[in-house]
Amino acid sequence: MRISTTPSQLLAVRGEIVHFTDDPIQRGAGACVHFPDGLLLVREGHVLACGPTAELESSLPTDAHRIDYSGKFIVPGFIDTHTHCAQTEIIASHGEQLSAWLEKYAWPAEARHADPAYAAAGAGFFCDQLLRHGTTTAMVFTTVHPVCTDALFEAARARRMRMIAGKVLMDRNCPESLRDTAAEGDAQSRALIEKWHGRERLAYAVTPRFAPTSTEEQMQRAGRLFGEIPGLYLQTHLAEQRSEVAWAMWLYPGARSYLDIYERFDQLGERSVFAHCIWLDDEDRHRMANSRAAMSFCPTSNLFLGSGLFDLARARDFGLRVGLGSDIGAGTSFSMLQILNEAYKVVQLTGQVLTPEAGFYLATLGGARALCLDEHIGNFLPGREADFVVLDPRSSVLLEARVSHATTLTGRLFALMMLGDDRCVAATYVLGEPAFERDISLPPRMPYQE
Ligand code: GUN
Ligand code: ZN
Repeated sequence: MRISTTPSQLLAVRGEIVHFTDDPIQRGAGACVHFPDGLLLVREGHVLACGPTAELESSLPTDAHRIDYSGKFIVPGFIDTHTHCAQTEIIASHGEQLSAWLEKYAWPAEARHADPAYAAAGAGFFCDQLLRHGTTTAMVFTTVHPVCTDALFEAARARRMRMIAGKVLMDRNCPESLRDTAAEGDAQSRALIEKWHGRERLAYAVTPRFAPTSTEEQMQRAGRLFGEIPGLYLQTHLAEQRSEVAWAMWLYPGARSYLDIYERFDQLGERSVFAHCIWLDDEDRHRMANSRAAMSFCPTSNLFLGSGLFDLARARDFGLRVGLGSDIGAGTSFSMLQILNEAYKVVQLTGQVLTPEAGFYLATLGGARALCLDEHIGNFLPGREADFVVLDPRSSVLLEARVSHATTLTGRLFALMMLGDDRCVAATYVLGEPAFERDISLPPRMPYQE
């Protein structure tokens, strides 16, 4: 169903609406807003109102454009707080843990993105994959090549997606073809910031890959740049595997901990997002909380690479902001539903429980908070950007059978997050317009092959 509204025309989308105004674990059930038969009203790409159909319908103007998704859920667009656009092609590569996996799979893939045409094809495919999985905002590592960053921002801009991204800074302990220098990396980042940061829905993240692949000079420049320009983000990896922690500590003698390395180089702040955060101690958590830094929990990646179990409750104890990350291509799915499935199991293994409400919060408003974007996206409060996903609980025979036996919202959300995947995504809307619709979309093709 292709809609055509004039920007000022009212769009009225009907379905079962679920969104969050706060963290349901901290604030209780009242943080979950649920309209079993609801209307989401959108004008000029922004939410005008959201409420029960019975209340809102009578006030709709006659020329409102109505779309009926009755029987389906409408939730805010999913937010992926950590991923790599140039690693799509090596998702599900067998047999290694982090450092061997980087050398064998990730770096060769990233090296191929030095070619602008290859990078552009990959970026388009990556953004389309995000959309067909219901993800409308992502924080992304590109590669060391500025052309790859240009390609990703171009692809996101063409699709009007919110995107935070940055060129990888990496000047040691990596192949020659992927190495910049501290001065070069700094100059290239500055040029990309000038070109993209703050343009439409795009923002730049200073991106030291992780402490082991940057010299002290590069780390110093990254911290300085991060503090210099308002609104800039910083993204990196932290404490993913035990051997990586040991390597980082060996490379930076005198640091108290892996986190301390980033702290010494002024890389902690409200707009810093650290992926993984598994092998931390409470002093690290305390310092992260003090600096308001955020964490990206990447369960499918952490299980796939054998990294370890993220401690969600401990992060919560320290008041840390946490979002979910696909971490493609060490992560094994673009689907936030699949990521929630594995998050649930990781949390089980740490002796805690992830409720479906807490899970959907993490995938939406939690992610928006982690990225300091919660005044723009993450729920359906009036004025928010109208990014939303339509989820079909009858998209597979098994899911439909399970949902038909679920008697509560909690039960149905749980079935969706355990059994759902991209087949559930009936449509994804960006700024109130369809960016993906299952029925009319062609099957995806990798762009790299004839
Ligand atoms: N640590 C440094 N680089 C990477 C990467 O590309 N993926 C993951 N999972 N961890 C990393
Ligand atoms: Zn990563």
